Amino acid sequence: MTNSPAQDKFTFGLWTVGWQGVDPFGSAVRPVLDPVESVHRLAELGAYGVTLHDDDLVPFGTSAGERDKIIARFRAALAETGLAVPMVTTNTFSHPVFKDGAFTSNDRDVRRLALRKVLRQVEFGAEVGAQTFVMWGGREGGEYEGSKDYGAAHERYREGIDTVAAFIKDHDYGMRIALEPKPNEPRGDILLPTIGHALGFIATLEHGDIVGVNPEVGHEQMAGLNFTAGIGQALWAGKLFHIDLNGQHGTRFDQDLVFGHGDVLSAFFTVDLLENGFAGGGPTYDGPRHFDYKPSRTEGMDGVWASAAANMETYRLLRERAIAFRADPEVQQAMAYSGLTELAQPTLSDGETTADLLDWDVETMQAQADRLAERDYGFVRLNQLALTHLLGAR
Ligand code: GCO
Ligand code: MN
Ligand code: MN
Repeated sequence: MTNSPAQDKFTFGLWTVGWQGVDPFGSAVRPVLDPVESVHRLAELGAYGVTLHDDDLVPFGTSAGERDKIIARFRAALAETGLAVPMVTTNTFSHPVFKDGAFTSNDRDVRRLALRKVLRQVEFGAEVGAQTFVMWGGREGGEYEGSKDYGAAHERYREGIDTVAAFIKDHDYGMRIALEPKPNEPRGDILLPTIGHALGFIATLEHGDIVGVNPEVGHEQMAGLNFTAGIGQALWAGKLFHIDLNGQHGTRFDQDLVFGHGDVLSAFFTVDLLENGFAGGGPTYDGPRHFDYKPSRTEGMDGVWASAAANMETYRLLRERAIAFRADPEVQQAMAYSGLTELAQPTLSDGETTADLLDWDVETMQAQADRLAERDYGFVRLNQLALTHLLGAR
């Protein structure tokens, strides 16, 4: 396994290393970071690309002339370092105008302004060659059930996403949209809170063929859900368009820790799925391994770069462990014993009908149930083998 940037496809948001540490209780602990410096530092560390919100590079309110200069300087840094911009996204949450959301604000004029802001960023994404357009609706939602018409809100969300998707198609930008679920924060409750909600919503879109999901480790875990199982469903549905890797300790505020600094066994199985795919074959993920984390407020600038490197190191270590895990003959034996690959076999045989399934009388069914119940699966042994590989003990 090589460690080349193009093969690893490690990417970072400008807002991750650039986070100054402002939180609801405290002010900035670090200076403003020049995006051009981030590009150079990330390239030196072995990253493949950077991602950005519109406002991460060009602060909202910048004049057109100034904007051109900032973008030219940024693109020169990209050309110099060879860093790609595989994904862009729009900030529809910081400005006070978005206090009640963007595409689902109760105020129609706000919704129209949000659309304009997003469409402009789609154009920028096309200019820099982005393949994925992430949409995280952080302000879409509310605090009080009585203040939002949930029917109309989903209708407007659908209208907004379909409008953007149609725009991408009309201009042949070749980009795909990835919706990023999150259960809460900054809103009390955010619309499309989990991978499952987003997949259900996408199925209702007119242009859903180019819309998928960008799940984030911590966001599913904030909802008490299993991240690997969630991305497994998205991958199976052909909708895992992008991924945000980070760390989180259970159901609390969004921690955005370094990847693996939360539930490390879960991170192992996530990497195992991304690298090795499903046990029985099927769709695989070959998109960017995008780290959406925040260097903790306790860290200075050296700590920022050390934590960026830590994400990539963790991923590589887990990848190495996951490959060794699957190649271990004892693991393969435990997998066979567990019936893992048996699950890939269709339940009905070719040409079999439901009438065929009704050929047992009640006594036969009872006898067969008792016989089948004698089987065990050895899942604990398999999990312990995973743990020993993860800990480097095998
Ligand atoms: C979060 C989110 C954001 C989004 C990003 C893309 O931590 O709440 O992950 O970081 O991913 O803003 O729009
Ligand atoms: Mn997050
Ligand atoms: Mn994210």
